[in-house]
Amino acid sequence: MSHLTGKINSFPRVELVNVATPLEYLARFSAHLGRDVYIKRDDVTPLAMGGNKLRKLEFLVADAKLKGANVLVTAGAIQSNHVRQTAAVAAKYGMRCVAILENPINTESENYLHNGNSYLIDLFGCEVELVDELNAPDEQLDAVRLRLEQQGLIPYVVPIGGSNALGSLGYVVCATEIAAQAEAMGIDFAAVVVPSGSAGTHAGLAVGLEQLMPECELVGVTVSRVVDTQAPKVIKLQQEVAALLDVSADAKISLWDEYFLPMYGMPNEQGMAAVKLLARLEGITLDPVYTGKAMAGLIDGIKTDKFGKQGPLLFVHTGGSPALFAYYPSV
Ligand SMILES: Cc1ncc(COP(=O)(O)O)c(C=O)c1O
Repeated sequence: MSHLTGKINSFPRVELVNVATPLEYLARFSAHLGRDVYIKRDDVTPLAMGGNKLRKLEFLVADAKLKGANVLVTAGAIQSNHVRQTAAVAAKYGMRCVAILENPINTESENYLHNGNSYLIDLFGCEVELVDELNAPDEQLDAVRLRLEQQGLIPYVVPIGGSNALGSLGYVVCATEIAAQAEAMGIDFAAVVVPSGSAGTHAGLAVGLEQLMPECELVGVTVSRVVDTQAPKVIKLQQEVAALLDVSADAKISLWDEYFLPMYGMPNEQGMAAVKLLARLEGITLDPVYTGKAMAGLIDGIKTDKFGKQGPLLFVHTGGSPALFAYYPSV
């Protein structure tokens, strides 16, 4: 067993993902773009319609259980995939889930307010507290934690996106899967592309891929921030994850921030074109908020020759397609 796997296995973990998610070749999409593109299907993780948060929750919920927690407390947008998956995991382990939700795009669209993730969050029995703005999420989460403690409950705060060092270990695990699958398939990836939001997915992959596939470029396509504000978040988590695993992390964090405008949670033309393209060429659903915009980055990166090396690309599909129903016909 490698040092990395040994270290990962020393952390308590519940099993939510079970087996490696598929890594597939996108034949028609590759032919269309003139470059080989593969996809890592973290959208089909087994619980609650899938997505990247289950990998983080494997570590976070194990920690919560060890601490005797009976309520998971978290926060996000009304259409949060993270809250949907956290609520489902709470249900699975017999815990309550309390979520502070905001409407970041100030829409009154019925579908945004009640369909997609919002519907599922409710279905999983989550207790929702709507706020005008998640402008100080740590303090807002802490206030709920305190209130629940005063009621005699044992709350466990899952940070926004599950993105602390412990949660990000889930994406070091994903990097070990990618490395093993690439080797078994005989593929030498030039670059891996992933959406970069609360940053745990990006940071965990950065640490894992640096150890296992050091020649491969990792590109984070931002979904909510410009490089100047996103880079410090990713780098801080990258260093914290590396410290947890007792490895060094010197890989430069690469971010593309040209694809998320007009703002987080608001679809744009390039992103929606990417959603349609993958649906029509491969029968795979992306989403308007994260993976559509990240895929727009990958497509543009090919067209404008932005990748450092030639060779096959890997897109990490982090899930999110329940939001398609929330954004229909438009927000
Ligand atoms: C579908 C989807 N993709 C990507 C991300 C971004 O991952 P991270 O928050 O770890 O940067 C999220 C986060 O909520 C998500 O829901």
